[in-house]
Order: sequence, then structure tokens, then C-alpha cells
Amino acid sequence: MLDQRRLPAEEVYVECERPEQVAEAIRNMTIRGAPAIGVAAAMGIALGAMTVRVKSVAQFQEEFEGICRMMVDTRPTAVNLSWAVRRMKDVMRRHGEQDLDGLRRALRAEAMAIREADIEANRQMGQHGKRYIRNGSAILTHCNAGALATAGYGTALGVIRAAHEEGKELEVYVCETRPQFQGARLTAWELKRDGIPVTLITDSMSGYLMGKGLIHLVIVGADRISANGDVANKIGTYSLAILAKAHGIPFYVAAPLSTFDLSLGTGDEIPIEERDSREVTHPFGREIAPGGVRVWNPAFDVTPHQNITAIITERGVAREPFTKGLRDLFS
Ligand code: MRU
Repeated sequence: MLDQRRLPAEEVYVECERPEQVAEAIRNMTIRGAPAIGVAAAMGIALGAMTVRVKSVAQFQEEFEGICRMMVDTRPTAVNLSWAVRRMKDVMRRHGEQDLDGLRRALRAEAMAIREADIEANRQMGQHGKRYIRNGSAILTHCNAGALATAGYGTALGVIRAAHEEGKELEVYVCETRPQFQGARLTAWELKRDGIPVTLITDSMSGYLMGKGLIHLVIVGADRISANGDVANKIGTYSLAILAKAHGIPFYVAAPLSTFDLSLGTGDEIPIEERDSREVTHPFGREIAPGGVRVWNPAFDVTPHQNITAIITERGVAREPFTKGLRDLFS
């Protein structure tokens, strides 16, 4: 996998030969983004299935369960991770009668299918979402919801890409996205490579930019969406949604069905990951705050559904009332 911690300065690939290495790569954000870590977890499980040394199917199943647990425990907020693990477990259950070779083949095929389906879902989202982007639009996005955050093409960036491919003229404003700078390091890199006009801003510039009438719509990805349409996404998303509402700017979320957690009634129930304080005090390894200062570092926030204009999925678009709209999409 491409080491996202080193972008944009270096394009270095990390090779994982054991599932533990995949789990560590998810934890330390070598790979990140909700759909991408789901695909990585599935691949990690397949890798474990192919390499684990066992003598019986029973022993294989035991090892498999351990690897699944290890993947789920890496990061708590993006539900794509447990969704992908559940799909792998379903395959294991369905192929219970097979020998070791059969099980290995089935698990490998499922991981590949999850990857393919994610790319296809992103392309579908692009088709459903591109109509919201008019020729000449200025779009604001946050974090990285692009090819790097998925198996390819991207969710929010997929919608932008689809509009661009159709020949629309666009300008994309990207929030740098502290503390990990996914916007500056990854989204700006992806857009530049595609030749899509991009302007980088610091996170605190977005209100001024909207106030000056320079933004026509906001589009972001998601890490988990509850049954009522509340959206957990990268920290700072909630502020952007409130600002967009205050300025009468439409606020769109693009996410595949694998990002929905309909078992949760509201976003209050979504677990929010808190990361190491050093991400805040030592960006790029350099200390920028007084030693010992107290730090709070939640990696995500929750945007209540009332602030969201529409949620774009591969199956279509949901709007208020989201509870019904989402139920219809899933039925
Ligand atoms: O902490 P990260 O970089 O994994 O967070 C990623 C985001 O918040 C993305 O916006 C989200 O996963 C959507 S990616 C298609």
C-alpha cells in the first residue's frame, strides 16, 4: 500500500506479508479513509487466511476469529471496517463445509470483491452527485475523501471528478485539515495530479471565504452515518456544515452504503476516536506548544442531519426526512 503518511513528499509503497502488519498500517494511518481501511482489513484477513499455518479447519477458524478481532480493534469510528470484517465472517460461515484450500480461495475472492465493489460504488456516486455541481462552481471540501481514502476514484472527490470529466469548470477549495493535514497533503495532491483547479486554505479561513460569496457548495465524505442521517466525519466537518447553513450554501455528504450504521438511532451513539496528543503539539515532529500543555484530540465530529442538504450514495440520494430516505435506499 502507498504510505499516506509520507505524501506528498515521497511516494513509497509498504508491503505487508502478515495480517499484523496490515492492522498496524491501519492504526498508524499508513492507510486511512473509511472505505480504504475497510478494504485493507478484508485484504489483511485474506492475507492471514493464506499465510496462517494450521493443521485443521477448526484451528484455522480460531486463527481467523483472532485476525478479525485484531482488524476491528484498529480504529473505532469508521464503520466500514467492521462492515468488511462482517462480510469476511459471512463467507467463512457460508463455506463452513469446505477444506482449507476452499476456505482460503473463498476469503481471497471476497476481499477482491469488496475492493471492486467499492470502486464501482464511487463511480455510481459520481453519476448521482455530479448534477449538484454546476459549470463554474466553487466547491469546498475537507480532509481527503478521494482515491486514497477508498479503493479508487473517491466519494466526495469522486463526485467532483465526475463533474470534471463531464467538462464542467470547477474550482476546489481544500481545508488543510489539522492536525494530520489530509487536505493539504493528500487532497491537494490528488486534485493537482488530475488537473482539477485547487486552492488550499487553512481550516480557519472557511467562514471568511463563504462570507465573501466564494463558495457555491460544500461536499465531504463520511466515516459513519446513523439511521437518522447524522454524519461522523473528520474533525472540523461540523463547523463547516454550520457555516454553510448560515450562509445558505448547500452541504452534501457522499458515502457508500458500507458507511451507514442503521443499528444506531442517532450520531450521539457513534464512537469517536481520540488520538495521540502529539499530533497536535508536534506536527511533522516539531514541537509547537509548551511542554505538558493539556490537549484534546478527537479525530472526528458528528454533524446533525438538520445541517445536511443531501446524502449521495451509490443507490441514489437521500434528503430530509433522512430516516425514511435511508430506509428506502436500503430496502
Ligand atoms: O482519520 P482519517 O484520515 O481516516 O479520516 C478520514 C475521513 O474523515 C474521511 O473524510 C472519510 O473517511 C471519508 S473517506 C471517503
